[in-house]
Amino acid sequence: MNILLLGSGGREHALAWKLVQSTHCDQLFIAPGNAGTASVGTNVALSPTDFPAIKDFVLTNAVGLVVVGPEEPLVKGITDFFRKDENLQQVVVIGPSQYAAQLEGSKAFAKQFMERHNIPTAAYREFDASNYEEGVEYLKQHALPVVLKADGLAAGKGVLILDNTAEAIAEFEQMIKQSKFGDASKKVVVEAFLSGIELSVFALTDGKSYVILPEAKDYKRIGEGDTGLNTGGMGAVSPVPFADASFMQKVEEQIIRPTIKGLEQEKFDYTGFVFFGLIKVGNDPFVIEYNCRMGDPETEVVMPRLDADLVELLLAADNGTLLQLQVDQDPRVACTVMAVSGGYPGSYNKDIPISGLDTQLPSDSLLFHAGTGIKNGQVVTAGGRVLCVTSYGTSVQDAVSKSRKALENISYEGIYYRKDIGYEF
Ligand code: AMP
Ligand code: GLY
Repeated sequence: MNILLLGSGGREHALAWKLVQSTHCDQLFIAPGNAGTASVGTNVALSPTDFPAIKDFVLTNAVGLVVVGPEEPLVKGITDFFRKDENLQQVVVIGPSQYAAQLEGSKAFAKQFMERHNIPTAAYREFDASNYEEGVEYLKQHALPVVLKADGLAAGKGVLILDNTAEAIAEFEQMIKQSKFGDASKKVVVEAFLSGIELSVFALTDGKSYVILPEAKDYKRIGEGDTGLNTGGMGAVSPVPFADASFMQKVEEQIIRPTIKGLEQEKFDYTGFVFFGLIKVGNDPFVIEYNCRMGDPETEVVMPRLDADLVELLLAADNGTLLQLQVDQDPRVACTVMAVSGGYPGSYNKDIPISGLDTQLPSDSLLFHAGTGIKNGQVVTAGGRVLCVTSYGTSVQDAVSKSRKALENISYEGIYYRKDIGYEF
C-alpha cells in the first residue's frame, strides 16, 4: 500500500523509519519531510494543511493510508475533510476528527472532558471576558504557584506558572484583555500547580479499544540540569525508570481506560494516537494535557522500542481489530539526544551546512533528522531542532553516551546539545 505521512520533524523521520519496515508499505511519501525522510521515502513539496492539494496527491498516487504527524492539520479538520469527500472514502486517515482534536486544541475542552469522566487532573476554572472580574477574585484567593493556560494552541508558549498573585493577575489581564497569545488566550484556564515528575504515555486507539505504546520522558529545558528556557524537547528516554509496573497499572486504570471509555461514550471519531502528558505526584498519575498526536522527541525513542509492524497496527486501528494484535516492547533502553541551532529557542540562523553525516553510525544508534533541508546538494539546517541520535543501551547512561559519541562526529556552526539527558537516572 502507498502511504503519505504529513509533517517534517524528527517525529516524522522516526515514523517514516518505522513505516518503511512494514511488509505492507509499498511507496512512502512524506509531505513536506526533511533531508532525513528523503533517504527513507519520497519527499513531496506539500503543506500538511493544504487539504485540496493533499487530496489531489492522494488520488494521483493511489495512497491508501495517510498518517498525520503534527496537530495542526488535525485541529484544522483534515480527518473530517477526508470523511466527507466521496472520492476519499477508501483512504485510511490516522488522526482524530476536528471535534475530538479539541482535546489538544482547547485546554478548557480537555478539562471539561476529564471532569465528566473523573480523570485525575489539577483543579481548575475557566475565564474569558464575560467573567473576567470573577477570575481576578479567583486568582486573589488562589494558592501559589498558580498555572495560567491559554485555551487554544500557542506554539507551546501559552502556559505560565506564577508564584506571585499580582503578577498572575497582570498576566491574566494581558492574556484576556490584550490578547497576549492572540485568540488562543481569549479564554484562560486557571489551574492548581502540581508538584511531581512528568512523563509521556502513548496509546493507539480506534475510539473504543486501545493498545499502549512504550512510555517516554522528554527533557524540555534548553540547559543542563533542566535549567533555562523551554524548548520543543532536547532529548528523551524510554522506558521511564520511575514508571514501574504498579504505577503504569494506575495509569491504565485511572487515566487511559476512562479516557478511551469517554471517547466511546461521547461518540468521538478518534482513530489515532493519544498522547497523555502526565505528572507523577507522590505515587499517583495526573493528566497535565492531552495531545492528539505522537510527541517529539518522544517518538524518536518510542518507535525504536515498538516491537510490532506499525502499518499493521494503524490498519487494525482503522478496522477495529486492534486487540487481536500483539504489541511488544524492545527490552532495551533507548535514549535520544537532540542537537539544536545556536541561539535556539531564541532566534537562530538557517541554511548552515552540516558535516559528518556520512560517518558510519554504530549498529545500535539511529540518526533522525528534524529541522534539516537540502540546498545545492548539501544538507543544511532548517529549524531550531536540527537532528537527533537515538541509541539503544543496557542503561540510560550507556545509551546516552553512545548518542553523544555519535554526535561528536557531526558538526555545523553553532551546534548545541545537552550532554546530561537522563542525568537523574
Ligand atoms: P502544557 O502545555 O499543558 O503541557 O503545559 C506545559 C508545561 O507546563 C507542562 O509540561 C508542565 O511542565 C507545566 N504545567 C502545566 N500544567 C501544570 C500544573 N497544573 N502543575 C504543574 N506544572 C504544570
Ligand atoms: N515533547 C512534547 C510534545 O511533543 O508536545
